[in-house]
Amino acid sequence: MTGQSRLAVLGAGHVGPVIARLAIKAGYPVAIATSGDPEDIALITELVIPGAQPRWASDAVADADIVVLAIPLHRFGDIDPALLGGKVVVDAMNYWPASDGVLKAFEQDGSSEIVARRLAGSTVVKALNHIGYHELEDRARPAGAPDRRAAGVAGDDPAAAATIAQMVDRIGYDPVRLGSLRAGRVLQPGGPVFGAVLALPEFERAVRQDARSLA
Ligand SMILES: NC(=O)c1ccc[n+]([C@@H]2O[C@H](COP(=O)([O-])OP(=O)(O)OC[C@H]3O[C@@H](n4cnc5c(N)ncnc54)[C@H](OP(=O)(O)O)[C@@H]3O)[C@@H](O)[C@H]2O)c1
Repeated sequence: MTGQSRLAVLGAGHVGPVIARLAIKAGYPVAIATSGDPEDIALITELVIPGAQPRWASDAVADADIVVLAIPLHRFGDIDPALLGGKVVVDAMNYWPASDGVLKAFEQDGSSEIVARRLAGSTVVKALNHIGYHELEDRARPAGAPDRRAAGVAGDDPAAAATIAQMVDRIGYDPVRLGSLRAGRVLQPGGPVFGAVLALPEFERAVRQDARSLA
């Protein structure tokens, strides 16, 4: 996959538009969708995500190479796994009981492992979940910038993880490849880098021990 991979961002709340803007800036064609009619987000998309195409989720996904799940985890069950079949899916979601409520299925294991089990026909990579949306946009820097920060990429499929690492790099972060989706538990709430925006050496130091024990 090249830099021209097409993105579908599902979710137009807090983090979805930020991911969409960063991706557009990096040169990716981007469609954005909610669970509803794209007409409802047409004006706001034009104003706050210029260049993004508001579409029905099914249409956005059908034309995409990479689908970013930027929806609350408690809404994940609404997504038809067949819709995402064959796609590289970036799981940017977190299990956050304060807003998701208690989801029994997500009380154990890494949330992305559970997402991946349900999306068995897709290739799931965990990324872009651990930095708050404001910071995700404000701290993005081009490669080589002295104050560039790092962001984790965790997946079981090396080719898909490489594709998403490239995307993370292009949108403004030093990608840190973790060995597996399971190792990506370090990126979720309660993990050592959740909510932290660290430079590469600090990030690697913070995740090294946990990631090794989870790989
Ligand atoms: N907020 C952050 O700083 C941040 C940062 C990184 C990761 N995350 C994670 O990203 C996820 C989303 O967070 P958020 O704060 O952006 O949530 P949010 O502001 O509540 O926005 C959620 C968006 O998802 C859409 N949506 C819900 N169900 C959908 C479906 N089935 N198909 C397509 N779109 C759907 C909603 O639109 P409709 O209801 O109209 O469909 C809404 O646009 C969460 O899991 C969160 O933990 C958040």
